Order: sequence, then C-alpha cells, then structure tokens
Amino acid sequence: MKKIRHTLIILFCFLGIVTSYAQAAFPTITVNLNYPQYQRLKLDGGYVYIEGAGMKGIILYRASENVYLAYERACPYDSYESAVQVDGSTLFMVDQTCKSTFNFSDGQPTGGPAQRPLIQYRIELSETTLKISDEVVN
Ligand code: FES
Repeated sequence: MKKIRHTLIILFCFLGIVTSYAQAAFPTITVNLNYPQYQRLKLDGGYVYIEGAGMKGIILYRASENVYLAYERACPYDSYESAVQVDGSTLFMVDQTCKSTFNFSDGQPTGGPAQRPLIQYRIELSETTLKISDEVVN
C-alpha cells in the first residue's frame, strides 16, 4: 500500500499536479526562554520538541543567541506521514523510516530519498520570548 502511495506521489509530482506542499495551521506558539522546559535552548545547538503544533510537531533549534529555527517534524519524502527527530549525534535531523537526513542550518535534505527541505516556520524573537507562527518561510 505504501509503495502504491509513493508511486502515485512521484507520478503526481512528475505531472506537475502537486505544486505546493502540505501545511498545518496552528495558533502562534509563545516560548519563554527562561522557563525550565526550554533549558536546552540556553546553548547553541540546543533543541526541544514542541508537540501539538504543525503536522507532526516542531523541532525548535538554537543556532546562536539570536537565531532560532523552527522545523516541521513531518518528513517531506512521502506525504509528511513520518516524524523526523534529532539524530543521537545532535548534528542533524533524521526520519528513521525512510532514513532521510536534514541539516539544521536550513532544513535541506542531506541524505536518503527526500528531495525537499523540512518546512520551516517563522519565528520572531523579542528579548527572551520566541513566537512561532504557522507562516512557512522556505
Ligand atoms: S516520510 Fe515516509 S518515510 Fe520519510
């Protein structure tokens, strides 16, 4: 069944029928970086999972003190059905189902079958507060 779905998606993409990717609407998420549950975001390279937003949740990643990135966890390889996670090395993100890997700097695929980047959501930073909206920025 999964093989048939993969084949259909590839066929639709080839025919130009699928021109944009899926997206989930969600209310703006406010993250207070001083809260203990966001302790891991105190250091560059830190990340947290945010549940209940997007299609499969969000990976919130700190690139630097002033740069945070919010990636949709839904793997873009086949219908966004599988959830990407941070690899045990914490150096990249991976979907354990299809083995697609993605970098943290812009969510682009770096290995496996995925051809598209992870969906990236807009973040606004004001002092110690982040606001993540469902606006896609890539
Ligand atoms: S999305 Fe189905 S395996 Fe990566």
